[in-house]
Amino acid sequence: MKTVTEVLIGKDPELHTIGPDASVLDALRVMAEHEVGALPVVDGGRLVGLISEREYARRVILLDRSSRTTPVRDIMMTRVPCVEPGRTVEECMALMTDKRVRHLPVLEGEELVGLVSIGDLVKAIIDEQQFIISQLELYIAS
Ligand SMILES: NC(=O)c1ccc[n+]([C@@H]2O[C@H](COP(=O)([O-])OP(=O)(O)OC[C@H]3O[C@@H](n4cnc5c(N)ncnc54)[C@H](O)[C@@H]3O)[C@@H](O)[C@H]2O)c1
Repeated sequence: MKTVTEVLIGKDPELHTIGPDASVLDALRVMAEHEVGALPVVDGGRLVGLISEREYARRVILLDRSSRTTPVRDIMMTRVPCVEPGRTVEECMALMTDKRVRHLPVLEGEELVGLVSIGDLVKAIIDEQQFIISQLELYIAS
């Protein structure tokens, strides 16, 4: 089973983040510009939260708040489940299922070094299964 480090190697290394005082509208703009569904919230180089399309839907739209005047800190998830680079894809999947989240920031000590999404994990699992199938096909054909 692949580790988080191996998943990160296959991805664009640029991590998009936002500050807690930015407006929700700015966060949405960053998400749209980079076609991502979540942003780790970073303050003074430290991870302090995470904002995703889910927080926007449930804590802005549904409550009839303004995305222009609401700061990210007011709606961000603060108890963010995180993983270390050595964790396996399977462990990440279990954590996502347990905590009902789709994005896991990756921390090396206190340092934010990346993020894995549910799509990254599904892709890693499918790639591994396809590799096993091709090996079995080769074995059967030989
Ligand atoms: N083909 C691929 O390699 C691949 C990988 C992941 C997701 N997807 C597809 O994209 C769609 C949405 O994916 P999702 O639900 O996993 O979430 P998503 O839209 O948030 O993530 C899409 C990609 O952007 C990356 N990403 C997310 N937030 C980021 C951030 N703040 N900074 C840098 N990178 C960030 C993710 O790690 C993932 O690789 C799904 O249809 C999924 O199947 C495809």
